[in-house]
Amino acid sequence: MISISICKTFGLSHNQDKGQRRALLASLLPLSGLLCPFPAAAQEIDGARLFQQRCASCHSIEAGQNKAGPHLSGVIGRPAGSVEGATYSEAMRSSGLTWDSQSLDTFLTAPGRMVRGTRMTVALPNATQRAAIIQYLEGQSAD
Ligand code: HEC
Repeated sequence: MISISICKTFGLSHNQDKGQRRALLASLLPLSGLLCPFPAAAQEIDGARLFQQRCASCHSIEAGQNKAGPHLSGVIGRPAGSVEGATYSEAMRSSGLTWDSQSLDTFLTAPGRMVRGTRMTVALPNATQRAAIIQYLEGQSAD
């Protein structure tokens, strides 16, 4: 009874069209953001899927399978430029980096800025996407 009268107050009926419903949802969205303890975007981005879309053409997550880029199985904790049989630039081999979530985040933001002369040119400027991919890579241990 109460909800019906609220709907009537807002000029909505059970026969409201989609546009009206969408408008109502849109007006409630900022509220749901306040009630939700995590940013919605971080929950929705699927690191595995993003990796398939943005990285898998050049990187396998199977140890020993190198494509244009080295495999990324167990990349967390691995010294940069160290996969046997992978083709690296001199810049990567001599970078002195060890990959952890922080250095990966910096690298993926702008690879050439961190490792000048690297052959990897794909950048992920979106921090939420980087976090999702790094979290995914953390789960891909070397075996
Ligand atoms: C067009 C091909 C290509 C794509 C797409 C690509 N990479 Fe790369 N990546 C490379 C190449 C080539 C290297 C080797 C760079 C070098 O030696 O300078 C590399 C190196 C790396 C390294 C360093 C690995 C090591 O062993 O030191 C990481 C980490 C990495 N890529 C992550 C990613 C991630 C994450 C993505 C997706 C967002 C991605 N790459 C997309 C080609 C690519």
